[in-house]
Amino acid sequence: MTEPISRWSAAETIGKGVRAAPALRVGFVTTLFLALVGAAGRVVIPILVQQAIDRGLTPKGGVDVAMVVRLGVVALGVICIATWAQRTAVYRLGRRSEEALYGLRVRLFEHIHRLSIADHSEERKGALVARVTSDVETLAQFFQWGGLAWLLDGTLMLLVAGVMLAYDWVLALVAFVVAAPLAFVLQRVQRHLVKAYDSARSRNAQVMTQISEVVAGAETLRAYQAGERYAVRVKQTSHDRSKSFIRAGSIGAFLFPSGEVFGVFTVSAVVITGLIRGPSSGLTAGAMVGFVFLTYRFLEPIAEFTEVLDQTQTAVAGMRRVLGVLEIPVGPPEPEIPMSLPAGALAVTVDRVDFSYRARGDADEPPVLLDVNVHIPAGQQVAVVGETGSGKTTLGRLIARLADPSAGFVLVGGVPLTRVSNADLRQRLTVVPQEPFLFEGTIAANLLFAMPNLQRADLETAVVDLDLNDWLDTLPDGLDTEVGERGAQMSAGERQLVALIRASLVDPDVLVLDEATSSVDALTEVRLTRALEKLASGRTTIAIAHRLSTSARADRVLVLDHGRLVEDGTHTELVQRGGTYSRMYDAWVAATSAG
Ligand SMILES: Nc1ncnc2c1ncn2[C@@H]1O[C@H](COP(=O)(O)OP(=O)(O)OP(=O)(O)O)[C@@H](O)[C@H]1O
Ligand SMILES: [Mg+2]
Repeated sequence: MTEPISRWSAAETIGKGVRAAPALRVGFVTTLFLALVGAAGRVVIPILVQQAIDRGLTPKGGVDVAMVVRLGVVALGVICIATWAQRTAVYRLGRRSEEALYGLRVRLFEHIHRLSIADHSEERKGALVARVTSDVETLAQFFQWGGLAWLLDGTLMLLVAGVMLAYDWVLALVAFVVAAPLAFVLQRVQRHLVKAYDSARSRNAQVMTQISEVVAGAETLRAYQAGERYAVRVKQTSHDRSKSFIRAGSIGAFLFPSGEVFGVFTVSAVVITGLIRGPSSGLTAGAMVGFVFLTYRFLEPIAEFTEVLDQTQTAVAGMRRVLGVLEIPVGPPEPEIPMSLPAGALAVTVDRVDFSYRARGDADEPPVLLDVNVHIPAGQQVAVVGETGSGKTTLGRLIARLADPSAGFVLVGGVPLTRVSNADLRQRLTVVPQEPFLFEGTIAANLLFAMPNLQRADLETAVVDLDLNDWLDTLPDGLDTEVGERGAQMSAGERQLVALIRASLVDPDVLVLDEATSSVDALTEVRLTRALEKLASGRTTIAIAHRLSTSARADRVLVLDHGRLVEDGTHTELVQRGGTYSRMYDAWVAATSAG
């Protein structure tokens, strides 16, 4: 990362935020102009009063009715136009901010999705998503209220201040100076108020939790005769809750009249100054009255504004974190000049590869893979075995270029992976992960998601090719069976079966299969084995084997131990050698025959 994001100033953050969400800029000047026109509706009354007094009253003490009516009609017209303009401005701001947030959400999730697994494990990505979701929610709340207030109150104060200065700049300055402390005091009080309400709300949540615990845990409480004690606890918390709401209420009660008090001060200062200066200063009676009205108008939004300032700070902080996420560099970059892969089955070469997960950031920890060298000829069926944590999944990830090695190279079909375009690689090489992910929906939908252009018939053919129709027949709706959220309605073995069909639809030349660690029932195991055999034939296959029956059938077995490749040979050779593999195999045979 370049400069630390936390040091960006508010202005910098907003600038970068607008660049990251360009929808905000679209037509903004027009929106601002419409809001200004809208604000005119609020200053028209003071101006009307001034005009009516100065021009509607004849010097003899009579009233120029026609003139007053004319003024009234004009004012009505202005108010109609202003109302329309304000509504349009509000609508435009709402629409643009929704678009901006939508764009930002999409960009964020795509970005997080593309983060290299070398830097970010799935859990870390999950945490990032959670954080970013709440930050975007903060921004959404800001636009619903704070952004609107900035637009409407901001333009109103600007316009009112302009009209005040135009009437009499001395009086205007007096009003501004006397009103200034109001903003300061209000902000102070509001901060206390927000804090008080926050604590009141969390007390409230505490009461809810305790009550629901007492209800849900009634049986346990009764068994230990703890009901009485818990009732006392709920009573105490409820009492605290009421107290904190009363406290918040009393701060709020102080806040409301304080605006009035400042209003009186400011208006008094304006009136006194006006009277002292007298008519000789050029201030007419009408202008004086109109000015008093304007002063009230000017003070009105201040209370809201000070509150908005705090909300804006929160929003800017949220935006800063959102931008911070977008700054994190994403996973393996695309080659500038991609090389094409040869046709047919592809050889895989792992050349002096070391790998460390950068996310762990601990320099003392040994690398996850260390000096791994292996050449897998095209079409060979290889099994990778080793204890848990020995680096098998990691090796599979490097071969699929989900991350790049810290040192050394991986070549597929003789081409370094860093030179293969991502699109090419995803077509020619497929990974069946250790814990395949199914999306809520039918099996068919989960299969088509890999290749959206395929037809129903293609799915059926794939099932037959992998010899899985007998399994499909056992399901209630065949291919239309719902898998449930995250595939929860399927067993782990069945999820693997779906993943195998999914992989076969891609028809890759290299298959990396990470067997599920969780045990599967005997029948599913037979089906998995059969499907894997069918799927593997004619392709280079790297099967990370947890069931050693898989490695027993492979052309060749690679044994990883603490990130090092310690054995490499056929199953029979390695069993006879009496090393790590033969010990693993003996243990596995003993365990499976005992079970
Ligand atoms: N995304 C990750 N971020 C940081 N460390 C990781 C990540 N994935 C794996 N590791 C660590 O790398 C080492 C090797 O993990 P790997 O998943 O490759 O082992 P494995 O041989 O596949 O184990 P298993 O048999 O349990 O699947 C372990 O110490 C693991 O904790
Ligand atoms: Mg693994």
